[in-house]
Amino acid sequence: MSFTNKVVLITGGGSGIGAATAILFTREDAQVAIVGRTEEKLTKVAEECEKYGKRPLVIKADVSIDEELNTIIDKTVTQYGKLDILVNNAGITVLTKLLDADLVQNFDKIVKVNLRAIVSLSNKAAPHIINTKGSIINVSSILSTKVRGDQIIYGSLKAALDYFTRASALDLAPYGVRVNAVNPGYTKTNLLNFFGQEDIWERLIPRIPLGKCAEASEVGNMILYLASDKAKSVTGSTYVIDNGSMHK
Ligand SMILES: NC(=O)c1ccc[n+]([C@@H]2O[C@H](COP(=O)([O-])OP(=O)(O)OC[C@H]3O[C@@H](n4cnc5c(N)ncnc54)[C@H](OP(=O)(O)O)[C@@H]3O)[C@@H](O)[C@H]2O)c1
Repeated sequence: MSFTNKVVLITGGGSGIGAATAILFTREDAQVAIVGRTEEKLTKVAEECEKYGKRPLVIKADVSIDEELNTIIDKTVTQYGKLDILVNNAGITVLTKLLDADLVQNFDKIVKVNLRAIVSLSNKAAPHIINTKGSIINVSSILSTKVRGDQIIYGSLKAALDYFTRASALDLAPYGVRVNAVNPGYTKTNLLNFFGQEDIWERLIPRIPLGKCAEASEVGNMILYLASDKAKSVTGSTYVIDNGSMHK
C-alpha cells in the first residue's frame, strides 16, 4: 500500500491510534500532518516518523476551541498544497451515567471533541478532498452499537458518528470521495488513563473473547486499508476490530 504523494491529516496524532496511524502512513511514503493539544507528544511522534523518511507537520491545536480548530485544514493545505485523506481520530471519554449530576457538563465537553470537531473538519476538508478524490476515515467505537451503562455520552456520540459517516458517504459519493469508519473495541492506548490504573488493559482481558486488547497499529492498518485503493468500492461502512467483544 503506497501513499506516495498523498497528504494525510490525522487528529489526535500524539498518542495511541493516531500516533500509530501517522507512523504507518509515513512508512508508506505519505506526507502527514498531526494534530493535538500537547506539543511534546506530537514532537515525539514526529521524531519517530522521521526515522522512516519524512517529518510530519505538527499542528498544536485544541479541536474543541473554534479559533484553533478553524486553522487546521488551512495549515495543512498551505504546507502541502492539497489534502487527500482526513483521519478524524481525536477522542475523549469519562464514565457517564444518566443520573450523574454533571451529565450535561460532560456531554458539552465530550461532544465538542468527539462529534462537533469532526463535523467541522469534514465540512472544511471536503472541498479539498473532492479536488483530490480522496477519502475520510472516522474513528468510531463498538460502543456506537454495544450499550454500556457507564458510557451513555461517549456511546451516543459514537452512534451519531456512525450515522454521520454513512450520510457523509452518500453526500460525497457523486464526487468520487469515500467516507468510512473504523469501530475498535479495547485497544491499548491512553484513552482510559482517567481511571488512574496502569494495568487497566490487563483487567479488561476477561471481558474479551480472544483474551487480548488490540494494538493501536492494528487499528492503524485498518485505517490505511480503508484509505487505499484496495478499498475503492468501500464507502459508508463501519469496520469493527474488537477481538470479539461486540458479542460478549
Ligand atoms: N483505545 C480504545 O480502546 C478505543 C476503543 C474504541 C475507540 N477508540 C477511539 O480511538 C480514538 C483515539 O483514541 P486512543 O484510544 O488512541 O486514545 P488516546 O491515546 O488518548 O488518543 C487520543 C488523542 O486525541 C487527542 N485529543 C484529545 N482531546 C483533544 C482535543 N481537544 N484537541 C486535539 N486533540 C485532542 C489527544 O492528545 P492531547 O491530549 O495531547 O490533545 C490524544 O493524542 C478516539 O476517537 C477513541 O474514541 C479507542
